Amino acid sequence: MIILAIESSCDETAAAVTEFRDGVPCVLSSVVASQIDTHALYGGVVPEIASRAHAQAISAVVEKAISDSGVPAERLDAVGVTFAPGLIGSLLVGVCFAKALAYDLGIPLIPVNHIEAHVAAAYAEYPDLSSPFLALVVSGGHTSLYDVPGESDFREIGSTRDDAAGEAFDKIGRVMGLPYPGGAAMDRLASAGKMRPDRFPLPSPAIPGDSLDFSFSGLKTAALNRIHQERQLLSLSESSPLPDRFRETMAASFTEVVVDGICQKTALALKETERKTLVVSGGVAANSHLRKALETLTASRNVRLAIPSVARCGDNAVMTACQAYYDYKNGTFAPLSLNAFASDELAISEHLSMTGKHLPKR
Ligand code: KG4
Ligand code: ZN
Repeated sequence: MIILAIESSCDETAAAVTEFRDGVPCVLSSVVASQIDTHALYGGVVPEIASRAHAQAISAVVEKAISDSGVPAERLDAVGVTFAPGLIGSLLVGVCFAKALAYDLGIPLIPVNHIEAHVAAAYAEYPDLSSPFLALVVSGGHTSLYDVPGESDFREIGSTRDDAAGEAFDKIGRVMGLPYPGGAAMDRLASAGKMRPDRFPLPSPAIPGDSLDFSFSGLKTAALNRIHQERQLLSLSESSPLPDRFRETMAASFTEVVVDGICQKTALALKETERKTLVVSGGVAANSHLRKALETLTASRNVRLAIPSVARCGDNAVMTACQAYYDYKNGTFAPLSLNAFASDELAISEHLSMTGKHLPKR
């Protein structure tokens, strides 16, 4: 079966053609048009600019994905598209394009949840991976743990109560003058710095006790206060650069606390679910310090770690195709009246009306 998938939930317009041979994904093409340079000028994603850029790029991106794959459009079996969650204007561009294409080719349309797709990125690199497993999604908008008893059955068992890990990295990066998005630059700075809990006492994002939830807002505020305090001590204005040593130590201390908190709740979730495989994905899963810590955590517990390569942790359409494949097998098709949804909750009720099946409560 050959699936063309489209992803446009945030600031990347992506399309990919993937063939599934006995369930094993074979990537025939993958195109990602990033808008990062445009949004970097504003220090964050500007939704209206993102929607316009998707509208401008989508035709060329999909055409290139089809021509790179070497598969004529008539041979495609289905179109998969991210319909939730994300920026509504951005999602609508992909959804409208996918609906028109599926209608024109007379093939099924498969609505894909973006968070589930992040997890599905792992199938493209671990061909023998199958459910059940525990999934950790750490991205710009999500920090969540899912028990996944079936490839199309995601049960949220923990999540952030406020900000996501990626948002926190980006915010601290921005106030320290790092280029947008701050996560990757924070990763490099943290490698150069040393953690100093005495100079940078920061609260853990792990909610104390048995809960599997996180909270990043207290940590973010504490780090911001410490950065402002340093500026005052050194009589630096908001626009003057902070000393390199300070930025490195802050990045190292912040990263250590984030990684520790995420690992703590992941270890607890592994214990509670007794799953023997951990899938990790989302943009923040590219973080080298988090990857190392999760390798250690899983090795010591005899758990298999499936974590996609750095390029597949961020938004792409191969992951959308992989989740679309399982949703297709599960009988999830969308009518041409499919809408896009900014939040997970709305997407769940749409799923019910499309399939007649209740999704488990997230
Ligand atoms: O999954 P993604 O591409 O988009 C969303 O669905 O949110 O994630 C983007 C997030 C951004 O916050 C970015 O700063 C973060 O992933 N990120 C990183 C790293 N690379 C990207 N965070 C920490 N360390 C990294 N190396
Ligand atoms: Zn994403």
